[in-house]
Amino acid sequence: MSRTIDFLGESAPIQQLKHLALQVAGTEVTVLITGETGSGKEVLSRFIHENSRRSHKSFVPVNCGAIPTGILESELFGHEKGAFTGAVQNRKGYFESADHGTIFLDEIGEMPLETQVKLLRVIETGEYQRVGSSETVYTDARLIAATNRNLQQAVAEKSFREDLYFRLHSVELHIPPLRERGGDILILAEHFIHQFERKHTISFEGFTNEAGEMLLRYNWPGNVRELKNLLESLLILEKGKQITSEILDKHLVQRNRDKGLVHDPEKSEKNELNLIYNSLIKLHHEINEIKQLLHHHENMNEGPPKPPLLLPPPLPEKGWIRNSRPHRPEAVETGPEIRTLDELEKKAIADALEACNGNKRRTAKVLGINERTLYRKIGKYGLGNEDSTGISD
Ligand SMILES: Nc1ncnc2c1ncn2[C@@H]1O[C@H](COP(=O)(O)OP(=O)(O)O)[C@@H](O)[C@H]1O
Ligand SMILES: [Mg+2]
Repeated sequence: MSRTIDFLGESAPIQQLKHLALQVAGTEVTVLITGETGSGKEVLSRFIHENSRRSHKSFVPVNCGAIPTGILESELFGHEKGAFTGAVQNRKGYFESADHGTIFLDEIGEMPLETQVKLLRVIETGEYQRVGSSETVYTDARLIAATNRNLQQAVAEKSFREDLYFRLHSVELHIPPLRERGGDILILAEHFIHQFERKHTISFEGFTNEAGEMLLRYNWPGNVRELKNLLESLLILEKGKQITSEILDKHLVQRNRDKGLVHDPEKSEKNELNLIYNSLIKLHHEINEIKQLLHHHENMNEGPPKPPLLLPPPLPEKGWIRNSRPHRPEAVETGPEIRTLDELEKKAIADALEACNGNKRRTAKVLGINERTLYRKIGKYGLGNEDSTGISD
């Protein structure tokens, strides 16, 4: 089974991360990947493997946290027939299967101390013994380890060996949480939607603008995995129909209630920027509502009777929809106004530029994309020398 793995994302931190990953992929160095659960540690490690000289050999993922302590060693190093009760035949370990390939040890922070000693030896010399055997075997497996725990703290608490920690973290790749990746949320969403449309043969009508903005504003404690699972259940449970902010809210609340998750306000600067950006989107939206109300008011004298100003009519739902749709639906005049992802992006960039008084560096930071990408997009959407709002409604 061969498929090419891509680590999706265009935000500045992800581009930087991919650049680093490609740099280390060409070497034999042991890599430690850190990041919250669901942030893509396993995908990144596959990406490294597939871009390395070992790509034609096995990639062997092992979740150290999911294997009972008692059998972890025999799983990793294999065992001889009769080594323990139930060892009725010789068994190949993961290190042997990953010979000339890559072994990915996920949740390495959960590895028991005795196993850590043996792991350090394999990393340093390539040598180990199968359980129940005194014969030394050699493996040429490249190690990539991952953790969502703070290993430094584990070292301080003596649950993780300091020598192993130093050995592992010669190169550390940190994956930022999804909430810090700005527009990548929409890029990933689009990718997963395509995937699930094909898998379930459902055609998806898209998100309203508000729902798209809600995706950007949400905290994503379960990161990309949460986004992916949410989209799959949205597609199936709502049978592909257009997702409004109300529907999305209902699903998010339900999922968080099921998991007992609560929103956890983060303190980092990036998150503050995100919050500011999200508030800006909200503000922009409110301004639009007011504009539309005024517009209705101005047109009171012409055409059919208009609803009273203080009791606004339900606003036309705007929406972004995947660029892939071959044609805009023809019935848009009577139904909700559909917006493409490009239109939503243009708007987000124009808003951010305005909020940052045209300062490109700050705008790029707020949007979570790099400056070069920002310039490219400014060119693409013709936002360059217009009055700074750059957008008309
Ligand atoms: N950048 C990405 N591009 C594409 N898919 C991703 C990306 N990050 C995560 N995923 C998907 O999200 C899910 C969780 O990723 P995974 O690597 O298992 O996370 P972790 O190991 O950090 O918990 C997987 O289904 C994976 O395919
Ligand atoms: Mg994982």
